[in-house]
Amino acid sequence: MLKVNDNFQKLPGSYLFSTIAKKVAAYSEANPDKKIIRLGIGDVTQPLAPAIIAAMHKAVDEMGATETFHGYAPDLGYEFLRNAIADNDYKARGCDISADEIFVSDGAKSDSGNIQELFSADAKIAVCDPVYPVYVDSNVMAGRTGTYDENTGMWSDVIYMPCAMENHFVPEFPKETPDVIYLCLPNNPTGTTITKAQLQEWVNYANKNGALIIYDGAYEAYISEENVAHSIYECEGARTCAIEIKSFSKNAGFTGVRLGYTVVPKDLSYEGVSLHGMWARRHGTKFNGAPYIIQRAGEAVYSPEGKAQLKQQVAYYMNNARVILEGLKEAGYTVFGGVNAPYIWLKTPERMGSWEFFDYLLETANVVGTPGAGFGPSGEGYFRLTAFGSYENTVAALERIKAL
Ligand code: MLT
Repeated sequence: MLKVNDNFQKLPGSYLFSTIAKKVAAYSEANPDKKIIRLGIGDVTQPLAPAIIAAMHKAVDEMGATETFHGYAPDLGYEFLRNAIADNDYKARGCDISADEIFVSDGAKSDSGNIQELFSADAKIAVCDPVYPVYVDSNVMAGRTGTYDENTGMWSDVIYMPCAMENHFVPEFPKETPDVIYLCLPNNPTGTTITKAQLQEWVNYANKNGALIIYDGAYEAYISEENVAHSIYECEGARTCAIEIKSFSKNAGFTGVRLGYTVVPKDLSYEGVSLHGMWARRHGTKFNGAPYIIQRAGEAVYSPEGKAQLKQQVAYYMNNARVILEGLKEAGYTVFGGVNAPYIWLKTPERMGSWEFFDYLLETANVVGTPGAGFGPSGEGYFRLTAFGSYENTVAALERIKAL
């Protein structure tokens, strides 16, 4: 008889955003007359930029002619896209990353879940708390996290680095040395970030301790402050201690299109084994490449028209962030983030639990957000709103919150 992977049984509840979707669907069914505004999951609402649509149309036509048809994509990604990424996201920023260190994929979520396959079963992971749930959940599935304590909301074998208003949401070096450190900067869910100098300290720490940093840069396009790094490879020594994962979802609205990439420098090796070689082997075995049409769409992100259009799109969402920040402040909330990221992290009022506040906001204002506790125990007492809604909905949601 088949024995199932019983690590899955250890996972408490469903995936955070599935739980929220179910709760909202139940409320909506019971209250069909209520107009719900969704500022929960960080899903974009603006259409794809014209330059991207044009590139997709052209690629679709190419797929319809024998001479220009494309079958399986190269499993590491087409060179036209890898070169565009290397030139624009790295060389232009003075980062020493070459096209053959870039692995194109169907999205950063898949990569951030899959990357843990490169680590031994007893590798010790460290995560910020609160944290994007995929990092922890994927390690639970792999049996790397020990047992779950329902009272604390913590896994026995995970190192938590609390990020709260007391430490300005800046993770501190853990007492126990981790093997793998997950950093998402600018941060999901808190919307805060750290300076390039602080990131350099993490790179130094990882190199000194033989640890690997998994750096999730999904929100990089939203950085507005000068002293914040756009890539971890801006830091000296990052080539020997960091993997960077990037998404096209937030900078180019690809949540429904699916495209991402992971950088694994060739200098990265542990116990004499190259992680670049391992990831290439994994990619070749388990992945058949992102679709040609989508990779052409990705290339258009780096065209002059694409860049100009996406700059406007990012500005549109950051204007929403401003509306949320100012509206919440006016309503007396304590707020964070929203300057270098499209997320606003607020302190729940009157010591309300974050799920309690979720219900309160849904039922009284018909606004959906994300409870901080869903991202980890240190998220309790906080709540996340996303700036990815439409401007009209964002303004309406804030009017409703202010009227409470
Ligand atoms: C979020 O809302 O945290 C993200 O959009 C979820 C994701 O990127 O998978």
